[in-house]
Amino acid sequence: MLTKMRKNLQFAITILILLGLLTSCSQDTKKYRIGVSQCSDDIWRDKQNSELKIGAYFHDNVELRFAAAYDSDERQIQQIDSLVETGIDLLIVAPNQVSTISPAIDRAYDKGIPVIVFERKTNTKKYTAYMGADNYEMGHLMGEYVANRLNERGRIIEVMGLEGSSPAIERHNGFREAIAQHPGVQVVATLQGDWTEPTAYNTVKQWLDKNKDAGNIDLVFGMNDRTAMGARKAFKEVGGALPLFCGIDGLPGENGGIRLVQDSLLDASYIYPTHGDQLMQLAVDILEGKPYEKETKLMSALVTQDNARVLLMESEEIMRQSRNLEQLHEKASQYLDQLDSQRTLTFVALAAILLLLALLAGIYMYYLQRARIQDERTKMEREQLDFYTQVSHELRTPLTLIQGPLDQLLRTNDFRGASDEARELFSIVRRNTHHLTGLVNKMLDAQVGTPIQEMTSAQVDAITVSQPIATPAVDTEQDEDAPTVLIVDDNADIRTYLRSILQGQYRLLEAEDGQCGLELAREQVPDLIVSDVMMPVMNGLEFCQQVKKDSISSHIPVILLTARALEKHQIEGYESGADAYITKPFSPELLLARIDNLLQSRHQLKDLWGMKPATENVAEAATPTEAIVVAATTPIEDAFISQFKKIVEERLSDSNLSVEDLAADMGLSRVQLYRKVKALTGSTPIDLLRKARLAQARRLLLESTQTVSEIAYQVGFASPSYFTKCYKDEFGTVPGEARKS
Ligand code: FRU
Repeated sequence: MLTKMRKNLQFAITILILLGLLTSCSQDTKKYRIGVSQCSDDIWRDKQNSELKIGAYFHDNVELRFAAAYDSDERQIQQIDSLVETGIDLLIVAPNQVSTISPAIDRAYDKGIPVIVFERKTNTKKYTAYMGADNYEMGHLMGEYVANRLNERGRIIEVMGLEGSSPAIERHNGFREAIAQHPGVQVVATLQGDWTEPTAYNTVKQWLDKNKDAGNIDLVFGMNDRTAMGARKAFKEVGGALPLFCGIDGLPGENGGIRLVQDSLLDASYIYPTHGDQLMQLAVDILEGKPYEKETKLMSALVTQDNARVLLMESEEIMRQSRNLEQLHEKASQYLDQLDSQRTLTFVALAAILLLLALLAGIYMYYLQRARIQDERTKMEREQLDFYTQVSHELRTPLTLIQGPLDQLLRTNDFRGASDEARELFSIVRRNTHHLTGLVNKMLDAQVGTPIQEMTSAQVDAITVSQPIATPAVDTEQDEDAPTVLIVDDNADIRTYLRSILQGQYRLLEAEDGQCGLELAREQVPDLIVSDVMMPVMNGLEFCQQVKKDSISSHIPVILLTARALEKHQIEGYESGADAYITKPFSPELLLARIDNLLQSRHQLKDLWGMKPATENVAEAATPTEAIVVAATTPIEDAFISQFKKIVEERLSDSNLSVEDLAADMGLSRVQLYRKVKALTGSTPIDLLRKARLAQARRLLLESTQTVSEIAYQVGFASPSYFTKCYKDEFGTVPGEARKS
């Protein structure tokens, strides 16, 4: 049982593990870790980083890791190395300077990590793809714009970006080449900045302080908007007429270049494209092994007073949509989180249900097993009991045959003359027989003793050896008027013993089993039956039931005489219809008293219910046979007597009607009809027929105008004189008297 429960538990645990694997597998799609190494941290980089994040939303298998070097080479190198160490799948890098960062990029690339160089360039060839705007072109276009804006004449200052960074170099080259085409435009100074506003302010301030007499400056080109604004601050501090300021980046938003141009703080700017989403797509394409462009050039545009308003509106719209997108993404992730926890909950619930089912199955199996064991135990107990019943039967029968005859012998006169010694010996035998009977009873009462399995077969054989079966016999030397008793027992000795007890008082019939007994009972209709229970062919219980079911024998009292002494056996006996139950070994007096008693109560019933005495009021009877009343105790007997009455009434006027005719009409033999009718009413069929005829005659005498002779013939008397005699016998008066009254 425990093993079964353990198996169930193991099954449930296996299911749980499988479920766990299933849930974890469903979430475990391969994630791409992308490292982003920014050289700096400012609003341009912020914009790009958030675009990268938005780009990543479209690929739910991307995880971004950001690092910002704050314009420091060493920090960027260190950050790239540690990103590589955390196990990134791809590196996006905007290198601070052209040559300084290259070794770190090389190391990443050499480890097999794809590298995208973005926006700033390096001098290494070890990169997978490059994406960025053309800074030379941007510088060139700005130079053209400046010359044009100054109408080919003017004095300008150029403030550079970080020394050694590729955009600074390229923008400078482009700008200077364009300016060179315009001889009226003169670059008064080229100052070194580092892309930040404070540095630009300081540099310009210093230059202005030093060159107070340098004359009028018409325009300052800062290589990014922050640089231009730093220069503007310095000029403003010095005072005087402000020159025009141009920058690069053209960012949207509050402090972005587009608004600065619109607010006329800057004269112009150039949109330096961030395109983080496009960059992300490139990264994913590389990671997924899709085709991609090795070099991608991002296009851009000049921001001037003419288009600033439109560009600002557009860029703000884009920013608004980006914010919406962010919110949507946030909502979607919330839903996904909820979905995830719901899924986990569902799996947990499912697992709990499975566990519960396994538990229930276990409990069910346990109870099933217990019921099976209980059934087997009950069966064994029943078999054991049957065995003991059988054994005790086998012991009680010979005991009966020792004890009974011995008692009988001790009572006879012959024995009174025996010697004291003989008498003493006999009483020892008698005492021990009683003792043995007591032991057998005790053994059966205890119901358990040596288990059947432990008995050797020899022991069993010794106990259950069968009795010889004798053939049925009818004692011919019997008093025909005495009540008939049918003895049914398979043991010939018991039959002999019973015969010795009963033969003086009863006419006896014998049968060796239930089947023969039933045939005899139907044929001879005895007054009483004494039957054993355990018999071959048909046992006593079945026999008793059949007797009580048959309309011919149903009225016969049955005494079951048996070794089955337990209460439950007695109940079985009474349930099969027995009138008395006597256990072996039995006392002959008890049996005789019981037989007598049963026959007496039959007689009493008949006296009570038999033929009603014919009275003066008989004419009131509706039918000639109404006076026939029986001790009918069962519907079977009721039905029998009704049928008898009906036939009598139908054939009343037939003077040739014999008992044989009546019996034949009822489908019985003469003996059967005679004995059954006698048993039920106490009268013979002929008596009842005559009484019915006389009752009918009396009615006709009172009600009709027919003569006495006519009536006599009509009710089936062969002669009027015999009718008169019978009438007088029955009613005490002659038929003529009835006429007079
Ligand atoms: C941002 C920035 C921009 C500039 C670019 C040059 O970090 O300084 O302002 O245009 O980098 O790489």
